[in-house]
Amino acid sequence: MIRSKPPQAARAAFMPETGSLGERLARIRQRSLDLAAPLTAEDCQIQSMPDASPTKWHLAHVTWFFETFVLERFEPGFVPFDPSFRVLFNSYYQGIGERHPRPQRGLITRPTLETVLRYRHQIDERLLNLMASKPVDRERDEVITIGLHHEQQHQELLLTDIKHALSFDPNPRAYARRWPMTTVQPQALRWFRQEGGLVEHGHDADLDGPFCFDNETPRHRVYIPPFEIASRPTSYGDFLAFMEDGGYRRPELWLSMGWDWVNSGSRSAPPSVTQRRSDNFKDRPAARACLHEKFSVDLLQLGEDRRVLECGRVLLDLLALGNRAQQASHDLARARLRQVLAEADVLRLGDRPDLLRHPVA
Ligand SMILES: [Fe+2]
Repeated sequence: MIRSKPPQAARAAFMPETGSLGERLARIRQRSLDLAAPLTAEDCQIQSMPDASPTKWHLAHVTWFFETFVLERFEPGFVPFDPSFRVLFNSYYQGIGERHPRPQRGLITRPTLETVLRYRHQIDERLLNLMASKPVDRERDEVITIGLHHEQQHQELLLTDIKHALSFDPNPRAYARRWPMTTVQPQALRWFRQEGGLVEHGHDADLDGPFCFDNETPRHRVYIPPFEIASRPTSYGDFLAFMEDGGYRRPELWLSMGWDWVNSGSRSAPPSVTQRRSDNFKDRPAARACLHEKFSVDLLQLGEDRRVLECGRVLLDLLALGNRAQQASHDLARARLRQVLAEADVLRLGDRPDLLRHPVA
């Protein structure tokens, strides 16, 4: 069986960005500022581990991309905002020259957040002026389009990085008070069997719009064995039951890396669960937990972006399967967990329209 494209209702979630290139530029650039808006300057400075980056760095780096690859190349009389930024905010672009090492990004206190915001504002103005002076330039516009997708990728990174940083606060600090996004109705856990089969994987211009990165092609077929998926994210109540069932003391319920992680940190519960034991929370989707705990459904709250949604759905699957381990054969659950880990990245939300209604809507 070759699965057809998702139904129309689900396809709406994948609609490409609309509007002119200038409108998309303004909207996506503003979105980065909106994501940083709930944060203080101190929040924006912090780097919680070598693999993460400070919010301030993300905001500057995506701007550096436009300055370096668009303005420097296409703007007449180009002058850099600050020549030191060329090294400071380069990530991995060898051809551009030296880079500041990633593990030390959080040690750079200058430029200040205020200067980075001025940097963004000036580069945006120059980009829009450039586009106004010559409305169509295919080569330039292709680079701007890549820059916009690059910025959206960093929006995801910004969120995951800052949520990791905030997780170290011994007091509960939410990134934003907008989760759950809809009123939570208690729902019994149900399982939907999916027959699997051959599915198409990779960029589809009709579905995804014309843009793609090279690692999204060529489109090809992948076989998915039958699997089951839960009807809702794991709740605080589910997780409390998992803990009471001795989940943190039972290695058979964990993948090897997860078990090592539990033991290395003497983990016995996500902090969000211990803080939310009351009945008021038991039906709410759980937040602030580690992937290893199959508990990161809070990524779903970041919505709006297809990649985040897909990632969130993978985590939802993991959560649900892990939770089911207390109800059924542990071996089966672990096998399914591995199966979903291997396969979930090729699934589409179109197969789960119910996820579009709750709680992503
Ligand atoms: Fe980047």
